[in-house]
Amino acid sequence: MNIHKLDKIAKSLIKEAAGKIRASFTTELIIETKSEANDLVTNIDKETEQFFIQQIKKKFPEHRIMGEEGFGDEIQDLNGYVWILDPIDGTMNFIHQKKNFAISLGIFKDGEGILGYVYDVMADDLLSAAQGEGAFFNDQRIPRVEEAHLEQSIISMNASWVAPNKYIEHDGMIELLRKVRGTRSYGSAAIEILYVVMGRLDAYISMRLSPWDIAGGMVIAKEVGAIVTNLGNEPINLLKQNTFIVSKPGLHRDIVMNYVKLK
Ligand code: IPD
Ligand code: CA
Ligand code: CA
Repeated sequence: MNIHKLDKIAKSLIKEAAGKIRASFTTELIIETKSEANDLVTNIDKETEQFFIQQIKKKFPEHRIMGEEGFGDEIQDLNGYVWILDPIDGTMNFIHQKKNFAISLGIFKDGEGILGYVYDVMADDLLSAAQGEGAFFNDQRIPRVEEAHLEQSIISMNASWVAPNKYIEHDGMIELLRKVRGTRSYGSAAIEILYVVMGRLDAYISMRLSPWDIAGGMVIAKEVGAIVTNLGNEPINLLKQNTFIVSKPGLHRDIVMNYVKLK
């Protein structure tokens, strides 16, 4: 399989799917809840995933797809070609704000990330990378991320982690937010990874992300020298949920060693 041909097809599917999502704003959304009251899904999340799956299966019948909404394959291993897709990352933003949501896609071959995409649908910004070939923002090559230090950094995290919660000692998170220059939260893991890759943020941390939230972003982050691990400083396992940090060099060790105390 030629990686450039695959890249061209993936990009055109993303652009076509995004056009359908934007067009959906004129129709009525059907909103449902999933595991909990704030875990939302719409008919557009589902239709977008189904669109990708139909197109991928038509073009590459031997490829498998792990999709958030469950229309893809039951994935227990990463052998062969596996597409890891979040049709809309940031569904709450999609519903409430009509911006700051993304299509997130990673294509893996025998467990290696070979292509990665995060497409900010409303900004019409496509972040992409091919393994070993660097990363691009639209058609512009992105420089490698620079070393950063906490005192001059902006980090992104959900405000839940600075209140008592079941995943992490919140005292450490309070110390972290006192130390940094600023904190932000955008409500889409894929967009937050995009911002770290672009140098708009210095790090993003989360207590619980699924493979489809991060697969595309991980491939891209690696190409610009951003560090991605779980919060225990171990490699991410794309067959389960993970704690997560993507960070510029210089910050990663400091955050993981000195501020993160997982419960
Ligand atoms: C969610 C977003 C959010 C993150 C959640 C994800 P969804 O994805 O990425 O920022 O905090 O953990 O589940 O449900 O909008 O695809
Ligand atoms: Ca998601
Ligand atoms: Ca989603």
